Amino acid sequence: MPSQFNFFIFLMCGIVGYIGGRDAYPFLINGLKRLEYRGYDSAGIALLNNTLNVYKKAGKVSELEEFVADKDIHGTVGIGHTRWATHGEPNDRNAHPHISQDGTLAIIHNGIIENYASIKEALITKGHTFSSDTDTEVLIHFIEDIRDNAKVELEEAVRLALNEVVGAYAIAIISKNHPNLLIAARKGSPLVVGVGNDGAYFIASDATPIIEYTRNVIYLEDREIAVIQDQKLVIKNINDNKVKKNPYIEKLNLSIESIEKGGFENFMLKEIYEQPRSILDSMRGRINTKNGTFQMSGLREYEHKFINAKRIIIVACGTSWHAGLVAEYLFEDFARIPVEVEYASEFRYRNPVVGEDDIVIAISQSGETADTLAAIELAKSKGAMIFGICNVVGSSIPRMTHAGAYTHAGPEIGVASTKAFTAQVTVLTLIALHIAQLRGKIADKDLRRFFGELETIPSKVEKALLSNDLIIKIAEHFKDAQNFLYLGRGYCFPVALEGALKLKEISYIHAEGYPAAEMKHGPIALIDENMPVVVIATEGANYEKVVSNIQEVKARKGRIIAIVSEGDVKIKAMAEYVIEIPHTEDCMVPLLATIPLQLLSYHIAIMRGCNVDQPRNLAKSVTVE
Ligand code: AGP
Ligand code: GLU
Repeated sequence: MPSQFNFFIFLMCGIVGYIGGRDAYPFLINGLKRLEYRGYDSAGIALLNNTLNVYKKAGKVSELEEFVADKDIHGTVGIGHTRWATHGEPNDRNAHPHISQDGTLAIIHNGIIENYASIKEALITKGHTFSSDTDTEVLIHFIEDIRDNAKVELEEAVRLALNEVVGAYAIAIISKNHPNLLIAARKGSPLVVGVGNDGAYFIASDATPIIEYTRNVIYLEDREIAVIQDQKLVIKNINDNKVKKNPYIEKLNLSIESIEKGGFENFMLKEIYEQPRSILDSMRGRINTKNGTFQMSGLREYEHKFINAKRIIIVACGTSWHAGLVAEYLFEDFARIPVEVEYASEFRYRNPVVGEDDIVIAISQSGETADTLAAIELAKSKGAMIFGICNVVGSSIPRMTHAGAYTHAGPEIGVASTKAFTAQVTVLTLIALHIAQLRGKIADKDLRRFFGELETIPSKVEKALLSNDLIIKIAEHFKDAQNFLYLGRGYCFPVALEGALKLKEISYIHAEGYPAAEMKHGPIALIDENMPVVVIATEGANYEKVVSNIQEVKARKGRIIAIVSEGDVKIKAMAEYVIEIPHTEDCMVPLLATIPLQLLSYHIAIMRGCNVDQPRNLAKSVTVE
């Protein structure tokens, strides 16, 4: 597949569109709700019903829904948008859809038109006036200008305009003068076309809004334009106008229940509770404990690379970066390959030394994170083999890597990553163990033991979830704290970082994760009788050392919440609260210890009245650099 990633700015936001025999509104509004994880600054729709009705509102999709309650929402052609603002404040005026000067065309857009300012200037001299600060509005005026001045059909005007545009986009356009036409195009931002069996067509930023209606989808490639007219779809190349013969129709294999809340109050809680299942899914069909064999189709062709690798560089952001840190311990411990874990955003800008002998592992839930994409592109250009670990099937990263493995955690909608993290760690554990075997660094009996232990993890996660009531009590106790410290050593150091990130992002409490022993080099000064300190202190190699670190905190009156192994008595006597998790191998503790930390941040955030699924200032995939 040709690389689609020649530029480094990727944006989120959700777009949907419908053209068919029924009212478009239900699809648009439900679709926007499904896509809200991509941005929630404003929402808007445009519907064709003899006239072109545009309704838009700052805020969530639910606010748009209230706003249109007394409006005419009929129309069998429509487009909708949920915005993550880049150009212009998140207000009603800047919300999409935007319309042309003459009011006949409406556009929705995901991305950035980088050269919008010069186009805008030229259009202003021609008499165009603008009612928003967005780059998007400029694009629709530009298309209109070409249509009117070059006297071409709308489709051709769109194509010509896109040839002039620098930047990234997924767009959809409808026209008052063409009641049976919907045009969509993409470059850099994803776009899926759903093919209904009643002649209807759907478009969306990802497949989740579509699956209720059809399982047949076409993923538009970069620089493709889809023209849907009179129940027919034609896909053309934007540059040369060539028609794509027999576009590949994929059959989606995603269940609707898997993207709905299933009785939980919000997606985050649902996703936390799904972990016994998602961890199982992430290893399903990949290990055979009895004979100690392993298979992962994405890995087979590149096993020799891993066997001979001089170094592994892991690139990722946020929670995925934390999974990368766990992998550093795993790969060094078992496979004996040196590992560097890099923030993708730093790696891409510091002229890194990377070459053909290196393997770069990119970890990403969404597969769309801009910094990670750019880091991959850079490493690829320097000859490294790129292995992707992603959750979202068909997303950008799996399309641009040499090989990879899906985490199969199912859709993660909550902005705070939970089940994606444990699935990433599971897959990385499998890979590390397998490579250790290929490199002759692990005895067969040990490998079987580890595989066997991995198989028990889902039921142990279930057990860890039983601490929920205790965690609610702890949350009540500490919900008003201003700061939190999270400490861990070895495999539990990344867990401490992850626990702190979870708390920060959903409860807005400042939290820091630190290696427990490093605390005495600075952060210990923060400790007083008001400071909650969460320590991951499970049995294993570092146990006694961590016990000493707890003593150090206690001596300074810090308030200790400890995650311990079942039956621990020593720490119980020292800590204000202990949360027990089942016994397991050292290297698998992250899979269990993360669970109570997710629940703790969840309950604290809920008690503080925060929106856990859509925390302020964030988007599910951070697609800007
Ligand atoms: C996790 O809770 C965060 N919301 C965030 O750090 C996230 O992990 C990061 O943006 C990376 O996303 P990705 O895994 O989709 O690439
Ligand atoms: N650049 C456009 C805007 O700021 C689209 C951003 C998006 O992808 O939501 O409105």
